[in-house]
Amino acid sequence: MVFHRISQQLAQQHASDGYRLRRSVDGGNQPSLRYQHSGYLNFSSNDYLGLATDEVVKQAAIAAVNEHGAGCGGSPLVTGHGILHQYLEDFLKDLTGQSGVMLYTSGFAANSGVIATLLTKDDYLLQDKLNHASLMTAGRDSAVKMKRFAHNDVANLTTLLSSKPVTSAEERLVITEGVFSMDGDSAPLQKIYTLCQVSQSWLMVDDAHGFGINGQGVGSCHQAGIKPDILMATFGKAIGTSGAFVAADQAVIEYLVNFCRHYIYSTSLSPMVIGATIASIKLAQQTWRHQKLEQLIGHFKHQAAIYGLNIMPSDSAIQPVIIGDSEKALAAADLLRQQGIWLTAIRPPTVAKGSARLRITLSANHTTAEIDRLVTSLSDVLLSLEIQ
Ligand SMILES: Cc1ncc(COP(=O)(O)O)c(C=O)c1O
Repeated sequence: MVFHRISQQLAQQHASDGYRLRRSVDGGNQPSLRYQHSGYLNFSSNDYLGLATDEVVKQAAIAAVNEHGAGCGGSPLVTGHGILHQYLEDFLKDLTGQSGVMLYTSGFAANSGVIATLLTKDDYLLQDKLNHASLMTAGRDSAVKMKRFAHNDVANLTTLLSSKPVTSAEERLVITEGVFSMDGDSAPLQKIYTLCQVSQSWLMVDDAHGFGINGQGVGSCHQAGIKPDILMATFGKAIGTSGAFVAADQAVIEYLVNFCRHYIYSTSLSPMVIGATIASIKLAQQTWRHQKLEQLIGHFKHQAAIYGLNIMPSDSAIQPVIIGDSEKALAAADLLRQQGIWLTAIRPPTVAKGSARLRITLSANHTTAEIDRLVTSLSDVLLSLEIQ
């Protein structure tokens, strides 16, 4: 075989309990899903507000298809930037208070594009150690000088910034997430923002998991009362659709529109996604959805404490249970599936070595009874595996 390393590395993945496989489920965006003729309670979806299957959102997608067709017919600088795209960008400008917004087909493309386009070998990039793979990969692939600061550690970030006096030729960009995807905790945004102002550094916030949820749906930056230089958020989590946006000063957006290859050379989001996204962002601002989700998160944490589950200090819809060992995390996920609970084992390299986990995600569409079933099943499984 020409690519001998393919079989070698796949064998290695199996041997290290790192092998990844896809399961074609029906209803992955709902509280219950079906897989191979069996039903499961689903605690692995990022559709935190249950908007992916909301009737209003679905009708908005259908209306957009009827009016504009299924695809947009081109990349944004050719024919792909339609009136719906412009409407959504203008809507997001108002919502975020930024003077410029552009849409990307995914958060991965947005993060990769921003880093690859804005930073050069003369610049300095500081990232929270737990930032998403899209940010880390882009930083590593770029010629920029990159350092990681300890998770949510403002003192460590201060040290790294002050160890390097700013020169006129150099730009400095600090990137953090608003809500961390694998731990569910939040960044100290106000402190990081102040530090960036004092040290003349730019701040970028990836709010994939806070947009639609925090700050009455407007996001973590709005909640913290800050306006970062660059805000990236995705539509694939709480908004329940797909795609992403970057919001910044209009000059930054114009620069990206002119030079970002990830944007220029890619077909724009389809009208149906845009139609659904516009409807969904509006629904994500309804108070009752947030109250319901908060109540369910509180209920889960209360039950988890009663059953002595080792959960992390997270107040968000992301509630990870650390298992440690990948093999045990896979075994726990298998046993839970046998009990009708769908929870994905998250393993290195997605998370640090020795911190494999079951990443529980709650949705406003769950019920307290479903959460009770999750907690009792989880407790039984962890006891049977002698994990706690
Ligand atoms: C923090 C964070 N940033 C970026 C992304 C990438 O977004 P997308 O799924 O739209 O590519 C994700 C999603 O996995 C994420 O969790």
